[in-house]
Amino acid sequence: MKTALVTGGAHRIGAQICRTLHDNNFNVIIHYKNSASAAQDLATELNKKRKNSASIIQADLSNIKSIEKLCSAINSLDVLINNASVFYPTPISEINKDSYQQIMNTNLMAPLFLSTTLADKMSDNNGCIVNIVDIHSQRPLKNYTIYNISKAAIAMMTKTLAKELAPKLRVCGVSPGSILWPENSAEIDQNKKNKMLNKIALKKQGSSEDIAQTVLFLINSNYITGQIISVDGGRTLNQ
Ligand SMILES: NC(=O)c1ccc[n+]([C@@H]2O[C@H](COP(=O)([O-])OP(=O)(O)OC[C@H]3O[C@@H](n4cnc5c(N)ncnc54)[C@H](OP(=O)(O)O)[C@@H]3O)[C@@H](O)[C@H]2O)c1
Repeated sequence: MKTALVTGGAHRIGAQICRTLHDNNFNVIIHYKNSASAAQDLATELNKKRKNSASIIQADLSNIKSIEKLCSAINSLDVLINNASVFYPTPISEINKDSYQQIMNTNLMAPLFLSTTLADKMSDNNGCIVNIVDIHSQRPLKNYTIYNISKAAIAMMTKTLAKELAPKLRVCGVSPGSILWPENSAEIDQNKKNKMLNKIALKKQGSSEDIAQTVLFLINSNYITGQIISVDGGRTLNQ
């Protein structure tokens, strides 16, 4: 039985990755920051299907000490999914040290340190890291300067670590397009949502399942490393 650690695994895309990997015979470690009860509920759901197959672990990934503590709590691992992230606008006039550190630490520093620290504990038997990137790693989303930079950097990190950690580990990425509206999406009016959907070739959002299935595909693809797959309904065709 292989074990996967999924950061930000309590909700939304992360939770679906946990369910899909679990359905495919992985034991899962569900990482969370604030969502303790959602993480526990998901672990209970998965443990009902298979005893002792899911556990939870808390860490604030914007804090290096907390990242180190998480790493030292893990004994061995087959798959690491760097999914947790923060996403909010930082218009140029509002950029400050706090927003820079919160976004860059969570979206870039944490995946980097988790990958390099846990690499030694990961199995050579098709061990794999999958980073959840974003199509805006290539073409910037207006007003999201720091987020765009963090995702561009994790895209390069994916390729760099694929080179550095080979042949022991493979490192790949999945770049979602529009999958789920942000949690505070009530603030986005329907006209704006329709405008965004119209730019997608397939004229609809993707699902968390679309992302999770691509993660699973990459985990199972023994001869793919350093590649980032866009799962965006053709959104990038129209950019
Ligand atoms: N949603 C989309 O359409 C979309 C589009 C493009 C790319 N993506 C990427 O896909 C991934 C998942 O997206 P999502 O929308 O499902 O994510 P999300 O709901 O915005 O965030 C996922 C989790 O990240 C965790 N997190 C945030 N700050 C953290 C910190 N400092 N330390 C530890 N954990 C922290 C939170 O955990 P807690 O709840 O436990 O605090 C949260 O539940 C992200 O990498 C995102 O950038 C998503």
